[in-house]
Amino acid sequence: MNFHTRKWVKPEDLNPNGTLFGGSLLRWIDEEAAIYAICQLDNQRVVTKFMSEINFVSSARQGDIIELGMTATHFGRTSITLRCEVRNKITRKSILTVEKMVFVNLDENGEPMPHGRTQIRFADEAFKRYREGDSRAMPQGAAGADDEGGGLRGEVESLH
Ligand SMILES: CC(C)(COP(=O)(O)OP(=O)(O)OC[C@H]1O[C@@H](n2cnc3c(N)ncnc32)[C@H](O)[C@@H]1OP(=O)(O)O)[C@@H](O)C(=O)NCCC(=O)NCCS
Repeated sequence: MNFHTRKWVKPEDLNPNGTLFGGSLLRWIDEEAAIYAICQLDNQRVVTKFMSEINFVSSARQGDIIELGMTATHFGRTSITLRCEVRNKITRKSILTVEKMVFVNLDENGEPMPHGRTQIRFADEAFKRYREGDSRAMPQGAAGADDEGGGLRGEVESLH
C-alpha cells in the first residue's frame, strides 16, 4: 500500500470533541479512492458503488499530519475493489481502515463498462504509455497510479 496524500488537521476539520471529524475524513478518503480508481482504470467516469464497515481505530488531533493509503485488492469486470488505511504520518498509528471500497467503471451513458484491467498499474507504466502516444493514458494518471513496483522510487516518495 502506498500513502500518497497527506492532510494537515486544521480547526475546521474538528468535531466538538476537538478531534478529527469523521465526515471530513470520509470526504478525503472518497476523493483519494476515486482518484486511485480513475488512474488505475484510465477513465474519469468512475463512481463509488459500495463501502464496507469503517473502523475508526484512533483519533487525530489538530496539527496532526495524517496520510491516506490505498491499494487495489480486486479487479472485477466493470469494478475495482480497494482497501484503505489512514494513519498518523509521524507515529504511523492507524486512524481508520476501510476493508472494501468498490468503484464501477462507466461508459458515456453512465452504464457499467468493462475496464479490461486485471492488476495494479504502476506509475512508470502509465507514463510510458503516455509518452508512446496512447490517448487513453492520462498524464495525471502517472502521478496517481500505484508506485509500489517502483522500488527505490517508492521508498524515496514515502520519506517526503
Ligand atoms: C454504479 C451503477 C451504475 C451500477 O449499476 P448496477 O446495476 O449495480 O450494475 P451491475 O449490477 O452491472 O454491477 C456493476 C459492478 O458493481 C458490482 N456491484 C454491484 N453491487 C455491488 C455491491 N453491493 N457491492 C459490491 N459490488 C457491487 C458488480 O459486481 C459489478 O462488478 P463486476 O462487473 O466487476 O462484477 C449504479 O448502481 C449507480 O449509478 N449507482 C450510483 C453511484 C453513485 O452515485 N455513487 C456516489 C457518487 S460517486
